[in-house]
Amino acid sequence: MKKEKTKDQGIINKTRPNRMKIVVIGGSGLIGTKLVNKLRQLGHEVVAASPASGVNTITGEGLAEALTDAQVVVDVANSPSFEDKAVLEFFETSGRNLLSAEAAAGVGHHVALSVVGTDRLPQSGYLRAKVAQENLIKASKIPYTILRSTQFFEFLGGIAQSATDGQTVLLPPARVQPVASDDVAAALADITLGAPVNGTIELAGPEQFHFDELIQRYLRAKQDVRQVITDVHARYFGTELDDQSLTPGDNPRIGAIRFEDWLNVGSRR
Ligand SMILES: NC(=O)c1ccc[n+]([C@@H]2O[C@H](COP(=O)([O-])OP(=O)(O)OC[C@H]3O[C@@H](n4cnc5c(N)ncnc54)[C@H](OP(=O)(O)O)[C@@H]3O)[C@@H](O)[C@H]2O)c1
Repeated sequence: MKKEKTKDQGIINKTRPNRMKIVVIGGSGLIGTKLVNKLRQLGHEVVAASPASGVNTITGEGLAEALTDAQVVVDVANSPSFEDKAVLEFFETSGRNLLSAEAAAGVGHHVALSVVGTDRLPQSGYLRAKVAQENLIKASKIPYTILRSTQFFEFLGGIAQSATDGQTVLLPPARVQPVASDDVAAALADITLGAPVNGTIELAGPEQFHFDELIQRYLRAKQDVRQVITDVHARYFGTELDDQSLTPGDNPRIGAIRFEDWLNVGSRR
């Protein structure tokens, strides 16, 4: 450990005793990039792992090397395809390969990012795949923390796209409580540096909206002429929604960034 003599010859510790090696799987993605930067700024050794950097949780390429001496692994990878069968295969294969590589490397904390309400919406192929991912984590012997987040503000354009038919966007009026990706990365950084809870923590934004109104506001702000049509039976990634489907339960963590402020910052970029 690096030590230095002070002016009065006392010894001070120059190396942070809690500096950790942390591997972020999906480290090149939306959340991964922000999380990697945050953890590096705090002085940790962080590996941003993804196929682009030679680490692939599906083929196993580069995984053992990346995990050597790692204390914590954070999984924020996402499936390249959201098709029902493909996404289930991705999260199952990736989860299995990753957890067994972590067991071999002696990793002490597995952190994963999931979705609020994922176990309430079995009609959705994507959310069934996230449940499968969570179940693998819970069944493994590795201490873990799962953060279930609500929809990211950054994902609203993708939601509008997936619900578009011509010039109209079909959405239910169900309540949602979306969150900024900066708040998700901040919550994940905090969890990564803490002790495993062997359980699930929820995260949501500071305000609730009706889904149809939220997406219409988003489209207007982006000067997108598409019109949102409200339909209580409109499906969200394969499933109908009610006011409880995507909103958090008791005591979620709450992000700081409000939707309007996020929109305003985005329009100045
Ligand atoms: N979108 C939402 O509103 C929302 C809400 C709650 C939770 N989540 C969860 O948040 C997580 C992260 O989402 P995101 O939007 O940040 O994802 P993203 O931007 O799409 O990034 C996906 C990441 O996964 C990596 N990846 C893909 N295939 C991989 C493989 N075989 N091995 C290792 N890494 C692989 C990609 O690497 P390359 O760049 O190298 O391809 C990329 O770094 C997801 O698990 C999602 O379920 C999302």
